[in-house]
Amino acid sequence: MSSENTKQQISVDLMKKEDLPEILAIEVTSFPTPWTEGMFLDELRTAHAQCLVIKIEIEGKTIIAAYIIFWLVAGEVHLHNLAVKNEFRRQGLAYNMMILMHHIGAQMGMARQTLEVRESNHEAINLYRKCGFVVEGKRPNYYTDTHENALVMWAEIQQERKDG
Ligand SMILES: CC(C)(COP(=O)(O)OP(=O)(O)OC[C@H]1O[C@@H](n2cnc3c(N)ncnc32)[C@H](O)[C@@H]1OP(=O)(O)O)[C@@H](O)C(=O)NCCC(=O)NCCS
Repeated sequence: MSSENTKQQISVDLMKKEDLPEILAIEVTSFPTPWTEGMFLDELRTAHAQCLVIKIEIEGKTIIAAYIIFWLVAGEVHLHNLAVKNEFRRQGLAYNMMILMHHIGAQMGMARQTLEVRESNHEAINLYRKCGFVVEGKRPNYYTDTHENALVMWAEIQQERKDG
């Protein structure tokens, strides 16, 4: 994908309606039951939803490499969606989005963060463990497509110093 001379610029941006075709293309290659356009539009209309994309500019062309959606609600951060385009995986993008989610949660005074993940999704479970999440519960047959269990994971949010 890249050569030594290829210059890449990475930016984080708010998700926009115009981003949805690219996001939906990533979504269908990432999940057994992908979100629909309507589900993304609902999130974009939700006041307490944070919808962010990572854009990569390669030789003048900007593409969406990853996205994350989480809610800030009742003192907690709830992760709703996270995916990285295949060709950009294993480069730390998801980890950095998780760090950003933690940072925003801390800035907004949230105390804990939580998520649900398919029991078979070892890549994601490894990622969440690396980010300090631990399994605190299980929802049996949570996913209606495969009747798989969901693991419920939680992590504390370390408050960041505001002085200095
Ligand atoms: C899970 C996913 C978001 C990881 O994205 P990524 O950008 O490739 O992950 P990162 O490069 O930031 O990796 C961070 C950590 O995640 C874990 N991880 C990521 N991919 C992994 C893989 N293929 N196998 C094992 N562990 C993996 C590792 O612990 C890794 O840390 P390390 O590099 O020090 O080993 C990506 O594979 C994806 O989009 N999957 C499909 C959608 C999905 O499952 N989303 C989560 C829904 S709950």
